[in-house]
Amino acid sequence: MKLSINVDHIATLRNVRGEVQPDPITFALMSEQFGVDGIVVHLREDRRHINERDVRLLRELITTKLDLEMAAVPEIIDIACEIQPELATIVPEKRQELTTEGGLNVLDNIDRLRAAISKLHSSDILVSLFVEPDINQIDAAAEIEADIIEIHTGNYANAVNEQDIVDELEKIHIASKHAKKLGLGVNAGHGLNYSNVKDIIDIVEIDELSIGHAIIARSVFVGLEKAISEMKKLLK
Ligand code: PXP
Repeated sequence: MKLSINVDHIATLRNVRGEVQPDPITFALMSEQFGVDGIVVHLREDRRHINERDVRLLRELITTKLDLEMAAVPEIIDIACEIQPELATIVPEKRQELTTEGGLNVLDNIDRLRAAISKLHSSDILVSLFVEPDINQIDAAAEIEADIIEIHTGNYANAVNEQDIVDELEKIHIASKHAKKLGLGVNAGHGLNYSNVKDIIDIVEIDELSIGHAIIARSVFVGLEKAISEMKKLLK
């Protein structure tokens, strides 16, 4: 199972002081050296962490894969088409949220998302849709020609009692199998950490995980190289 690291939080820390450190580009390049398979950034409409310059620099400098998380809005779609990440992951975006709060409602936004996918495809960008582990949403993603789905693992990560954890895991498993049958690539992420990832890795249909907060938080204590290698060891 591959690992992409989301470096938005490094930009958040930089922006707290309005200065240049810590630099998310350096962090991304070091993450590559320490073995991640891709770099993820979310260019939000309000630019609260990652900015356009960061995305352009990452595009020039990283050697693995750039996954640009984005809302399906014309301004950001145009930027993506120009910068050309390998992958655009479309997420729902709310101005007041602390972090992405759930999957897209593909069924209710089918025309808008179909148009966004088609525009991104015309610039040779693969498109992933961030969705709940819900068969109907996944069917809709396949229908509008998404290449990949990223399954939202937040409800699994937030579940506290044993039965809820088992139920959420089962939904992710069924959704992953279903997506694979439809020919979709399967990524997953949100709220995954060094302990809850252990059950996710048993789901062989998942190709790649997108993890940010847990690795960055651990790197503060043990350093980035160890934080990444510990996670990679779990994914093997
Ligand atoms: N995937 C998506 C679509 C996200 O929005 C985020 C959070 O930015 C992540 C994965 C990573 O989540 P976390 O930081 O909780 O690992």
